[in-house]
Amino acid sequence: QEKTKIGLVGLGTVGSGVARILLDHGDRTARQAGRVLWLERASVRDLKKARDCNLPAGVLTDQIDAIVSDPSIDVVAELMGGVELAREVILSLLKAGKDVVTANKALIAAHGPELFDAAREAGRTIAFEAAVAGGVPIIANLTQCLSGNQVESLTGILNGTCNFILSKMHAEHVPYSEVIAEAQRLGYAEADPAMDVDGTDTAQKLAILAHLAFGARPDWRAIPRVGIDTLDLADVRMAQELGYTIKLLGVAELTEKGLQLSVGPTFVKNGSPMADVAGPMNAVRVTADAVGELFLQGPGAGQMPTASAVVADLIDTAVGRTKLTFQTLKLWSNESERTPVADQ
Ligand code: NAP
Ligand code: HSE
Repeated sequence: QEKTKIGLVGLGTVGSGVARILLDHGDRTARQAGRVLWLERASVRDLKKARDCNLPAGVLTDQIDAIVSDPSIDVVAELMGGVELAREVILSLLKAGKDVVTANKALIAAHGPELFDAAREAGRTIAFEAAVAGGVPIIANLTQCLSGNQVESLTGILNGTCNFILSKMHAEHVPYSEVIAEAQRLGYAEADPAMDVDGTDTAQKLAILAHLAFGARPDWRAIPRVGIDTLDLADVRMAQELGYTIKLLGVAELTEKGLQLSVGPTFVKNGSPMADVAGPMNAVRVTADAVGELFLQGPGAGQMPTASAVVADLIDTAVGRTKLTFQTLKLWSNESERTPVADQ
């Protein structure tokens, strides 16, 4: 059987999950792709750290360049996080003729259009389903399943760490400072958890979704945002007394003034589907002119749900499905065609 050789840049929480699926379920991925997805190399910073997967000898390296410069590697998943080094690595990978998969929303929110242009110039692809809402296939839904629609609004719980923390604050009345360490231990939080709790991560994901759903190119830093780090148990108790649950929501809505965007803790009426989303889950409600209303919900953070999305992108890339999606993905390069973002 033919092989597609895979490289992983980063073998932490998500990378180890991807390696586990590739190594433990090679029969499954081969069946789906019609070819073997072969884990050729994986790069890390620290070769001595214990890894959460059974790597064959010779796979691990501390040299990212060993992956970039290996001509036998076809597809590389960037799973190290951060922005500047990740940008440089992806540009080098594209130049070296490799297709790329990434879970890095901070990178896509900051440099997506530049990277997508570079991929098209090189005749390669970038797939990024895992960058927003973890295991929930929101990117595929927006770029493929809903492409006959004008999306009118999008409301999401987009950060699993915050939803996990808020769920504990509501159910057990423990302060957020006590739950954050648990979210880190369980692999939900970013390397710098401040990005989760101050609303940055949600704003980055909302900016990516706004690009795909509305043809806007908002700067995530300009989205008005409040995090959950401003909340205390008195806020939670008050919401509960009034029949509400507090959720950190990212909201994008088409208005006459343009696309309105915001991120903040919101009182959500108990009994509604959004209020019931508990734990490290994400949910996205989309309203669109043809389909009406859609509600997608599922694990938004954590090792295996995120690996699920990354591996689906690897399979799509290996079989060439990503090529078509990526070629038809609107990049809204021409400013006059973009949906304007309303003054906030
Ligand atoms: P992580 O556990 O911190 O793993 C990062 C990996 O990259 C580690 O293997 C690390 O090496 C390596 N690395 C980091 N900086 C490096 C550098 N400067 N040079 C070389 N290697 C470097 O992170 P993660 O949670 O897996 O997240 C990875 C990416 O997925 C991020 O972009 C994150 O936003 C995204 N993501 C995460 C989740 C989640 O639930 N965790 C969900 C969706 C998306 P060492 O292991 O040797 O330190
Ligand atoms: N830290 C992120 C979250 C990971 O908690 O949602 C998934 O993008």
